Amino acid sequence: MLKLFVKKDIGQLVKEANDPNIEGEHGGGGFKRHLTAFTITMLGMGAIIGAGIFSLTGVAAANYAGPAIIYSFLIGGVLCAFAGLCYAEMAAMVPVSGSAYAYSYATLGELIAWIIGWDLILEYAFGAVTVTASWSGYFVSLLTKTFGIHLSDSMMLLTKGPWEYVTLADGSQVTGIWNLPASVIALIVSAILFRGIKESTTVNNIVVVVKVAIILAFIALGWGVIDSANWIANTSATGFAALVPTEGLSLRNGAEIMSYGWNGVLTGAGVVFFAYIGFDALSTTAQEAKNPQRDLPIGMLASLIICTAIYILMALVMTGVVPYKELGVADPVAVGVDAIVSKRNWGPTAGGLISGVVKFGALAGLTSVVLVMMLAQTRIFYAMSKDGLLPWFSKLHPKFGTPGIATIVTGVFVAICGGAMPMSLVGELVSIGTLLAFVLVCAGVFILRKTQPNIARPFKTPIYWFIAPAGMISCAWVMYGLPKDTWFRLAIWLMIGFVIYFTYGIKHSRLQKK
Ligand code: ALA
Repeated sequence: MLKLFVKKDIGQLVKEANDPNIEGEHGGGGFKRHLTAFTITMLGMGAIIGAGIFSLTGVAAANYAGPAIIYSFLIGGVLCAFAGLCYAEMAAMVPVSGSAYAYSYATLGELIAWIIGWDLILEYAFGAVTVTASWSGYFVSLLTKTFGIHLSDSMMLLTKGPWEYVTLADGSQVTGIWNLPASVIALIVSAILFRGIKESTTVNNIVVVVKVAIILAFIALGWGVIDSANWIANTSATGFAALVPTEGLSLRNGAEIMSYGWNGVLTGAGVVFFAYIGFDALSTTAQEAKNPQRDLPIGMLASLIICTAIYILMALVMTGVVPYKELGVADPVAVGVDAIVSKRNWGPTAGGLISGVVKFGALAGLTSVVLVMMLAQTRIFYAMSKDGLLPWFSKLHPKFGTPGIATIVTGVFVAICGGAMPMSLVGELVSIGTLLAFVLVCAGVFILRKTQPNIARPFKTPIYWFIAPAGMISCAWVMYGLPKDTWFRLAIWLMIGFVIYFTYGIKHSRLQKK
């Protein structure tokens, strides 16, 4: 008989994760335990700060929230804090590499676990795809604008996929052929991941230091030249008070100001939510952490708090140095830098140099996001395959201790999708997929507190009876606000998942055979 909702035993799950004899000599089922609270926090910052702040903030400010975008960031941060606390409880209680997938296996049963595992591909693999595209944009801009390298028309056709437009030398617009930089960065990152977790965290640490240093420099240089007249969400107040949004169109200093009100702030929160995605990826490294019960909650919550603070400061500077309407471009941070350079009267040489350095920081930032997203994807594949729901992916490389096949497949998948897929299609899919996982993790925490109150919980979500439902409701509400066609694509993706589960997974599931 099929047991669609068969559950894993939590005690057994924890035992398997920690048993050095189950696979290989490294413990934790064959993985190497290298990660500390510090490296986990760095991985979190590596995963979180990326395309969200470097590309989407400007769009959200220009189109939805205006300078009140800082409230969108605050709302996004609070929502992720609810989910983050629930993730921390789960990750400390069940420190296995499958993250939300594994937690749902133990709480909601196999079918829901499959749905979540399949759904997490949207978050991690497609998340990496989205960010490779942003990477490619900054890379081409660095080559052509900063270094002045001329790319011929035929080379330009290799900077965008077949559903996106490229501007040629004569000003005409044609569709691209392949986004080669996006594919190349995906393959380079998967080579690093293949080599080992230690090598991957070393690269990540360097990259995070570079990007955070550049962001802090941006904030420090910009803070002194903020013109608070740009912070107008409420035309009848000044300074910080002007940031409290009211709705409507009015005049200030003779200029027309559109105030977007709280609706704009909320829509903006849905857009900038992407900027927070990534802290949960840390939970997939549980079997590679030295002391997961202590260090995973620290890493997740610390990276989330630091990034929220950085985002709000950056948003204050960006909307303070430039009128927000000018930020609706792919590289709003570069626009902010140009404004700072001109306000400080630095010449074109210094300006060019600083803008180049910032683009370099953005590239570094985006690289680490791709790295951690792909890392997480390989660990999810690993966990699903270990349970028999997917083939091959649980094989660990005998020397490097990494899931080699899963890494190669993820790398090739991201490289192909990054090269060919239109980015507008994938970005919102990533958000909806992530939010669905968050809802189920919050639900899992609540259910387990009721059904298994006595299980050891090294980290406990405070006031869980409020935080878990609040996480579920707020994530579901942001999902609700996403466009209908995103829901449609999610449904199609889940259908494909069902076909695979009912033709392969259910027949090979280890738990079904018991
Ligand atoms: N939070 C990640 C980013 O903004 C996904 O790029």
